[in-house]
Amino acid sequence: MTDGPTEPATGGAPPEPAPEPATDGPTEPPTDQTRDFGRILVTGGAGFIGSCYVRDVLGRRDGTQITVLDKLTYAGNEANLAPVRDDAEQAARLRFVKGDIADREVVDDLVRDVDAVLNFAAESHVDRSILDPEEFLVTGVIGVHVLLEACRTAPQRPRYLQVSTDEVYGSVAEGHSREGDLLAPRSPYAAAKASGELLVRSYVVTHGVDAVVTRGSNTYGPYHHPEKLIPLFVTNAIDDKPLPLYGDGLQRRDWLYVSDHAAGIDHVLRHGRSGETYNVAGGVEMANRDTVELLLEHLGKPWSLVRHVEDRPGHDRRYAMDGSKLAALGWRAETTFEEGLARTIDWFVDNEPWWRAARTGDWDAYYERQYGQRLRTTS
Ligand code: NAD
Ligand code: TYD
Repeated sequence: MTDGPTEPATGGAPPEPAPEPATDGPTEPPTDQTRDFGRILVTGGAGFIGSCYVRDVLGRRDGTQITVLDKLTYAGNEANLAPVRDDAEQAARLRFVKGDIADREVVDDLVRDVDAVLNFAAESHVDRSILDPEEFLVTGVIGVHVLLEACRTAPQRPRYLQVSTDEVYGSVAEGHSREGDLLAPRSPYAAAKASGELLVRSYVVTHGVDAVVTRGSNTYGPYHHPEKLIPLFVTNAIDDKPLPLYGDGLQRRDWLYVSDHAAGIDHVLRHGRSGETYNVAGGVEMANRDTVELLLEHLGKPWSLVRHVEDRPGHDRRYAMDGSKLAALGWRAETTFEEGLARTIDWFVDNEPWWRAARTGDWDAYYERQYGQRLRTTS
């Protein structure tokens, strides 16, 4: 157990030795909010979860200023920040910079101006990590390294928060993963995310960087890129296209509504102890085929759209996390799956131009590569 947030080192003095990070267990009391996070750098803030964080925090109208640094990959979309742009008071507190977290020059400048850095930036889709893993490593390892170096050398020593995932635990046959469990990633995506976490840990121990890690469950909600299960199946079903369900469809995921995920991250930013890792658990465990059944029911579409296709290689059978450590810090997810799924589906129905635009660029080539053969060889 650590004693509390690591104090920022002053001037050029060598850093204080940091306490051992990453303890397990739900017992720690909430820490007081002793730091002001009035200026935040959000990397990957034009993506699905990052943009939700930006919209929700600016929407509080508490004066917080946010700089978004985003490379605008195929998954990044400035339109995700349109609700902020359309509101003069919020727009005045947002700065958008197009750039790469692996670009030291850009990152150093931005990090010097903030109280906290929240790193959402990542290549985030498991299937793409199987097809083309390299970018996952460049962003997930070199990018994280560049951000941590910038935090280490910035005179004001900002707090760093690494947004990670339950996938670092690997497939969990039974029980619920706790923060001290072994990291056992099984896809290139999960391995890149685990690597990022290990780098964070090393900067806390070696350099006294003030840093925390969150591990979120499978997240769903508005503005979700249509390559992932729920938005892919909703948008395909709207078009009466086949829904490619991998293997037997009995894989289990723990679902977390996106604004709950953003709120959990914000809670850890403000109350988490430096060097600690926190599960942000959804607490909603569902077999994929049950999720698909619910979404088809909500859309009034038939099960006959579903195709059982060849499985994803190395497909993790089950994710499930224990959220009691973060609950002891005063946070738990609020949205029920029924409520969140209904809100999500309705958003996709109402925002067709958004998802049709997201299915441009490399979409057709990706879809053919990922699903073409699979869909041709099943009934
Ligand atoms: P996303 O793919 O929707 O968004 C990622 C964003 O990062 C995009 O805007 C992209 O343009 C940007 N980006 C990618 N590489 C970059 C780089 N090198 N420099 C700057 N920007 C870059 O992903 P998401 O679903 O919003 O996930 C956000 C974070 O949350 C990721 O770190 C992911 O690993 C983690 N996470 C996601 C889930 C989930 O279910 N989606 C669950 C747990 C954790
Ligand atoms: P996904 O949304 O890719 O998230 P993750 O792989 O990070 O859990 O997939 C969620 C689950 O849905 C996972 O078990 C894989 C499955 N899946 C399908 O069956 N078909 C698909 O086309 C996709 C994208 C996912």
